[in-house]
Amino acid sequence: MTIDGYTRTCGLIGNPVEHTLSPLIHNTLAKKLSHNLVYVPFHVEEGKVLSAVQGAYALNVLGLNVTVPYKSQVMDALLEIDELAEKIGAVNTLVRMEGGFKGYNTDMPGLYRAMSSEGIQIEGQEIILLGAGGAARAVALLCASKNASKVYLLNRSVEKAQAVAGEVNEKTGKNVILPMSLSDYHHLPDQKFLAIQATSVGLYPDTGRAVIEDDAFYQKIHTGYDLIYKPSHTRFMQLVQKQGGKAYHGLKMLLYQGIIAYELWNDIAVSEEMATEVYEVLKEKMGI
Ligand code: ATR
Repeated sequence: MTIDGYTRTCGLIGNPVEHTLSPLIHNTLAKKLSHNLVYVPFHVEEGKVLSAVQGAYALNVLGLNVTVPYKSQVMDALLEIDELAEKIGAVNTLVRMEGGFKGYNTDMPGLYRAMSSEGIQIEGQEIILLGAGGAARAVALLCASKNASKVYLLNRSVEKAQAVAGEVNEKTGKNVILPMSLSDYHHLPDQKFLAIQATSVGLYPDTGRAVIEDDAFYQKIHTGYDLIYKPSHTRFMQLVQKQGGKAYHGLKMLLYQGIIAYELWNDIAVSEEMATEVYEVLKEKMGI
């Protein structure tokens, strides 16, 4: 595309931002949809988030994504915050409006759209959720909001699991999140579950590990969904598959959180065909 006087700018603020795949998602969408838009990474130093957001607004930036470590901090720099993002307590997308930016969270809807596109259901399901950090907390909220029948939330630190479960149960008014210590996995009921892996264990470059190594645990899983996409075949996924379960990585979640942000910035709906085309580009980049 040709950058001219009408080109709109979107970007990513975070630290680090150097390894991001978001420019590939958004610039591919802009090119395929013939939009006069560019997406660039902005490395923002600690303590500079507020001035970065104000500066971006002054520069007529159309929208921003926000990544680690600023997803909560950025909330103080916004004019408005969407209800879902407020509930999750994290914003990853800023949308320009009159007078400032409005904050959204597209990670959770992104995961939901990614799972739906694979035919994975949450409603009525009994789910094992591994982890109690920021990502797991958002997934717990998703599962409760989408009417999972029960979510066993397993974490190394059981206090954190209890805190997240208590908070999500209270926020959603549903008593479906059951906190457990990770080491108590053998107390899980004897049945098959959808399991969502939301810890940082197994993430590149620490690729050889999974939070639980015992085959007996993986015999209880019919579908394993790892939020990690690098590597694209995690140890968790290998262990699920070894016991005959289906396993998925988090690249589609990344794709859809980007697509939902792009839809918000441009006030459009991106078709599934287009999403698939962008996914092919992402997979090629990842060598899968
Ligand atoms: P994120 O924002 O990506 O969720 P986080 O908030 O740092 O990251 O959370 C990391 C999660 O991975 C936590 O659930 C953490 O467990 P603890 O709460 O017990 O720390 C989990 N985690 C990290 N390293 C782990 C390990 N070696 N074994 C088990 N769980 C681990």
